[in-house]
Amino acid sequence: MRITMIGTGYVGLVSGACFSDFGHEVICVDKDASKIEALERNVMPIFEPGLDALVDTNVRAGRLSFTTDLVQGVKGADAVFIAVGTPSRRGDGHADLSYVFAAVREVAEALDGPAVIITKSTVPVGTGDEVERIVAEVAPNKGITVASNPEFLREGAAIDDFKRPDRVVCGTDDEGARAVLSGIYRPLSLNQSAPVMFTGRRTAELIKYAANAFLATKITFINEIADLCEVVGADVQEVSRGIGLDNRIGRKFLHAGPGYGGSCFPKDTLALLKTADDHESPLRIVAATIAANDTRKRAMGRKVIKAVGGDVRGKTIGVLGLTFKPNTDDMRDSPAIAVIQTLQDAGARIRAFDPEGHEQAKKVLTDVDFMAGAYDVADGADALVLVTEWDAFRALNLKRIAGMLKSPILVDLRNIYPPQDVIDAGLQYTGVGKPA
Ligand code: UGA
Repeated sequence: MRITMIGTGYVGLVSGACFSDFGHEVICVDKDASKIEALERNVMPIFEPGLDALVDTNVRAGRLSFTTDLVQGVKGADAVFIAVGTPSRRGDGHADLSYVFAAVREVAEALDGPAVIITKSTVPVGTGDEVERIVAEVAPNKGITVASNPEFLREGAAIDDFKRPDRVVCGTDDEGARAVLSGIYRPLSLNQSAPVMFTGRRTAELIKYAANAFLATKITFINEIADLCEVVGADVQEVSRGIGLDNRIGRKFLHAGPGYGGSCFPKDTLALLKTADDHESPLRIVAATIAANDTRKRAMGRKVIKAVGGDVRGKTIGVLGLTFKPNTDDMRDSPAIAVIQTLQDAGARIRAFDPEGHEQAKKVLTDVDFMAGAYDVADGADALVLVTEWDAFRALNLKRIAGMLKSPILVDLRNIYPPQDVIDAGLQYTGVGKPA
């Protein structure tokens, strides 16, 4: 198959590289010349484990290339994936579809023969109909069809998620589009048991939002249970295990923490809510999830203040981990931002370390001293707070840290340390959803 990927963001770049690794011929198109030029030198615009090697292999094999020239890029394509951003629209929280529609217009104009335009970007239900309308207006007689193929990969585990998905969802009623999508995903359905599910286009679009909203709700549910655990003297990790062993519930996404962040859950839950409101079909559970998660992040800052004795004015708080989750440099909606700002508002000085996030963190945080490592953060600080569970923080020498801190206080917002180990090392322990 000859595939064109419009947009070299997270989804576009990873999907394009993985498709080429399956043996398809892939051209990735992006308007950002500096990004394309960097990619041609095998410099990745994002931090994603394994991506540079995957890109390098496939570029060398002649299956993957990059261009800023959309017209050239779509020539002879069987499928053109739209993988441009759909950020929250300023003011109302709806998904901003202007990039999607602009890309579709250009692609439809440039295509020189029949092809399927496939939206991989997360787009509200009904977007495919609008895309179809644009195609009908711009290129009525080219034999272009429109399908939906939402992406479920996670940052930090993107390649593995793409190559070993739980399922692939394709939305189309068109036989030709179905044949193209089947061909593209044949390597997955042949080699392993990833079900490739075909459904209607609107259904496929909604599946993506429903999946993200459900996962966000699952996290928020366990976070609220964690709060209750603290009050009643129960252990949220045991509760997670105890409920998660029920296959109907499942163990994944039941890790209590400082609240979900990232480029997807916050924006997608909000957009889904807007769609539901527009259709006067309220999603009360999703609304409650958004509200609970929003307040949680600052509440975690207050939790730190309480652990330090109620007053952080003039104190130095060390923060380990800044990105919204490990194995990414992404700071978008990271809980660390709200935690740090809450501490700063209360008069604390912040020093922090993140294995990959400093560059992005500097764009959203002010007055933070960025340190070279975890022990540098601890040295002379009044307390240490673990916000993001990077592997590099999982086996710290707690005794050494206890000796370095001015007051031996550890707040573990990801529950990666057994409380007794922390206490045995001579530190005062605070976790999430742990009995006092
Ligand atoms: C999420 C979905 O998991 C992907 O399936 C989806 O494709 C993606 O959004 C998207 O729509 O593009 P991602 O945002 O990369 O992926 O990261 P997740 O691993 O889902 O984590 C999201 C947030 O939830 C993080 O802040 C993480 O720390 C938090 N989380 C996750 C918890 O607090 N507890 C958990 O048990 C799991």
